[in-house]
Amino acid sequence: TQARIGVTGLAVMGANLARNLARHGHVVAVHNRSHSRTKALVEEHGHEGVFVACETPEELVAALERPRRVLVMVKAGAPTDAVIDQFAPLLEPGDMLVDGGNAHFLDTRRREAALRERGIHFVGCGVSGGEEGALLGPSIMPGGSAESYAALGPMLEDIAAKVDGVPCCAHIGPDGAGHFVKMVHNGIEYADMQLIAEAYDLLRQGLGMSPADLADVFAEWNRGELSSYLIEITAEVLRQVDAATGRPFVDVVADRAEQKGTGRWTVQIALDLGVPVSGIAEAVFARSVSGHADLREAARGLPGPAATGGTVGGDFAEDVRRALYASKIVAYAQGFDQIRAGSAEYAWNVDPGALATIWRGGCIIRAVFLDRIREAYAAAEQPATLLVAPYFADALALAQRSWRRVVATAAELGIPVPGFSSALAYYDALRAERLPAALIQGQRDFFGAHTYRRVDRRGVFHTLWSGDRTEVEG
Ligand code: 6PG
Repeated sequence: TQARIGVTGLAVMGANLARNLARHGHVVAVHNRSHSRTKALVEEHGHEGVFVACETPEELVAALERPRRVLVMVKAGAPTDAVIDQFAPLLEPGDMLVDGGNAHFLDTRRREAALRERGIHFVGCGVSGGEEGALLGPSIMPGGSAESYAALGPMLEDIAAKVDGVPCCAHIGPDGAGHFVKMVHNGIEYADMQLIAEAYDLLRQGLGMSPADLADVFAEWNRGELSSYLIEITAEVLRQVDAATGRPFVDVVADRAEQKGTGRWTVQIALDLGVPVSGIAEAVFARSVSGHADLREAARGLPGPAATGGTVGGDFAEDVRRALYASKIVAYAQGFDQIRAGSAEYAWNVDPGALATIWRGGCIIRAVFLDRIREAYAAAEQPATLLVAPYFADALALAQRSWRRVVATAAELGIPVPGFSSALAYYDALRAERLPAALIQGQRDFFGAHTYRRVDRRGVFHTLWSGDRTEVEG
């Protein structure tokens, strides 16, 4: 039998995607640089479907029906280029090389353009959902040509998660569009995780609650509008007790958050596109701050309140819940703005509603909330920002007072909440009648004759600051 698809790179994500494909009745040719891994996969999971174990790229290519589909699941960067260089010469026009790793979309654009010259479809494909998602149903974000999606889509939709019977997989747009949206997905993931961590910190320090009690709080929150995978696993992590010490797991883990780079890329690209993604940026920086042991050690003795539990009055937990929801809306609104900006810059025509639809299940940021985003973009008129879509505008109005109370309380108690406070600042900046940006324009004109525009007349102006301070047209 000819295999319908080949998978090269059988670390856990690759192996699980191969198994998922096999379990759905697709004959899968599998290959790994060291053959022992290929053999182990087939030995352990051969009963789940039909695998064709291949020792070399040549064997893998020979095992495939045409046009060939090869899914590459290796580390982003140089290893991906190496595998492409190995396979491309073996492929023929019309064949498809799919990169399911977390590649940078600019690399994907470069690779796609190079392979297109040879008639090969290169598909940069975002895959989210971690190990379990890969096996049981991830959210899949393929870029590349529409033609390649026609040949690949049905198989990918088969293995994707389903919500209300709808597969969490759709063609995102040409060349790097798939990897771009996966990158922003991860940026949003960082922001969401940071906000949840801040909520935990506020309740732990502000109310003196234990991790076990907080596990119950998050489990409860998971039944309402915040219902999401990340809230669900937060409860699980907080409930965990360290076997060695009997202490809460969260207290024995070093408080330095690591990162592999997708959140950082999101912010770098957002800066280039001129999209304010302050929530994602704060999340990336918060991880960075946590990792700077030297700075933290040097600053530990600086004065400030030592938050003491139990001092906050009112229903603080409910305030925090509402503030979390509002801040989360801001983070997602910013992420979707970036997707729209990227889509416009690269002429991808990404449909934000379709994207929200395939993020409802399978991926790390899956949440009930994504269905609200889908609805917002399904409206006759696309909202300029999700913040003004009726459902979200109402939610923000409702959260208002709580949100402000929480940020003020955090400042008073000395609890760092960069995510909550930057989200609120963004909200207040967008709704402001006037911003102090006018003063900045004045300063720029003063020291650099950078000119400014006026509110009452068209044109560009400059004040002769070092002369008689009259205004001239710039
Ligand atoms: C996913 C995850 C996945 C990976 C992150 C982790 O969507 O399944 O986002 O891609 O776990 O890249 O990122 P950090 O190691 O940078 O936190």
